Amino acid sequence: MRKSFIKIRLMQSDDFAAVTRIDEKVLKTSRPEYYTLKFEELVQSTERVPTSLVAEQEDGTVVGFVMGELLIGEFGISKEAVLDTIGVDPDCQQKGIGRRLLKEFMDHCKALGAKKVCTLVDTDDSKMMRFFTGNQFGPSKTINLERTL
Ligand SMILES: CC(C)(COP(=O)(O)OP(=O)(O)OC[C@H]1O[C@@H](n2cnc3c(N)ncnc32)[C@H](O)[C@@H]1OP(=O)(O)O)[C@@H](O)C(=O)NCCC(=O)NCCS
Repeated sequence: MRKSFIKIRLMQSDDFAAVTRIDEKVLKTSRPEYYTLKFEELVQSTERVPTSLVAEQEDGTVVGFVMGELLIGEFGISKEAVLDTIGVDPDCQQKGIGRRLLKEFMDHCKALGAKKVCTLVDTDDSKMMRFFTGNQFGPSKTINLERTL
């Protein structure tokens, strides 16, 4: 598979099966309910500007995706976007697809007026930490606090 044969496009409702298939391959567990909600919220909602993207091979097979949203700021102007989930089919990783998805997501959010993209990563997840730090993400000034219930 050549990198140039990958097309990045906006996610559509009928990408649901491909996205859940990749997620299941990555996490080795199926979570269609989670993606049903995410698609309703981020892809099908007419109240949000679409930001989620997929990476498609020349034959139309979806091999990666990124889901996210613009946060509504003061006066309805979005200054910040959130990257919710990114995933590349394990058979297609290490070929630059994740980087391209991330770059196109950043460019798209910038074109929509966002000045910053935030995401949450488990610091124990060394692969994801390396991916994001290798793509110019750094620690934020705000930290996540939690308390066990
Ligand atoms: C993080 C993730 C998105 C990265 O996707 P990817 O397509 O492998 O990313 P890239 O190929 O752009 O970069 C990964 C590495 O491959 C390297 N690479 C890129 N193109 C390459 C090429 N042509 N040849 C060799 N290596 C290459 C990159 O330099 C990078 O190296 P590094 O890890 O040392 O920094 C992917 O590993 C993934 O989906 N992980 C699971 C994430 C997850 O849990 N998501 C939730 C459920 S879906």
